[in-house]
Order: sequence, then structure tokens, then C-alpha cells
Amino acid sequence: MKPTEELKEEHKVILRMLKILEKASQNLEEGKEVKPEVFKKAVDFIRNFVDKCHLGKEEDALFPMMEKYGIPRESGPLGVMLYEHTLSRNYVKGMAEALEKYEKGDKSSIKKLVENALGFAGLLAPHIFKEDNILYAMADRNIPEKEQKVLEEKFEKIEKERIGEGKHHEYLHLVEELEKQVGV
Ligand SMILES: [Fe+2]
Ligand SMILES: [Fe+2]
Repeated sequence: MKPTEELKEEHKVILRMLKILEKASQNLEEGKEVKPEVFKKAVDFIRNFVDKCHLGKEEDALFPMMEKYGIPRESGPLGVMLYEHTLSRNYVKGMAEALEKYEKGDKSSIKKLVENALGFAGLLAPHIFKEDNILYAMADRNIPEKEQKVLEEKFEKIEKERIGEGKHHEYLHLVEELEKQVGV
């Protein structure tokens, strides 16, 4: 499997989480009860599976390798992707802040929680589309075969060191559990 294929597989899981966030937000907006733990688990997934693991592989392995083979960082496609990563982290911060209040029973935090959850989903879905269809194809074309192997090893190391072995699987289960819970 090419390193970009591994990232595409992760995208599929992330897209499922985006649907969960959208559905949970919709439920809240319709005045239905959504347990804070749904958002708490989603934030945990985003911080670990998305941020530490997936964005980590992109930012600390794939993008630098692409840069090495002629794809510009500043004012180029990599710059745009990195900027969107920053924006996504701001949404997660907003979500976590609102969630803290929501957990304490403060209903006035629902607006901020929903805004940030939907903002995150609305940003990340097209981001993933661009990576799947444009950026990763550029990577596949430009990075030589032997360096693809190096990338693969780097990905493995990042996953092991930053989220730990076996965690990947646990997060897949978490997605399944939340899908059932919110009714996706
Ligand atoms: Fe990305
Ligand atoms: Fe990605």
C-alpha cells in the first residue's frame, strides 16, 4: 500500500466522524437531547486520531517529503493545506471550550458548540476531497519509489509514538459506537 493510500483510508474514517458531528449538531438544534459524552468522545478522536496521527503524518512526513521533491510550501498547495489544518484546530478548541460548559449543564453553550462542530465538518470535508484528488496524486507522481518506503516507515513511527499501538483500532470502534448513538 502506498503511504497516500494509508492516509486515504484514514480520511474515510474521519469523514464518518464528520457525519456524526453533523448529526449530533442537528439533534441539538432540534432540541433533542445529546449526551455531552458524544462530543467528548468526538473531541478525543479528533485530537488523537485526526490531529496527532493523521495531521502528524501529513505535516511531519508527507509534506516535507513533497517539498523536497519540488512542491512549494509557501503560497502553494501545501501552504493552503497547512492553513486549513490551523483553522481546523481553532474549531476544535472552540468545540472543547463550549463542551466544558455544556457538560456543566449550561445550555447557552449549545450555539457555540454547534457552530464549531459544523465549522470543523464544513472545513474538513472539502479539505479531504482536495487531498484525495489533487494533493496525494501530486505526491504519488513526485516522490520516488525508494522514498515512498521511507515515508511508510515514518508513518509507522508517528503512529506508534504519538497515539500508541492498537489505538487505531480502538478509534474505529469508537466511530461505530457513536454512529449508533447519534443515529447516522
Ligand atoms: Fe490535511
Ligand atoms: Fe488528510
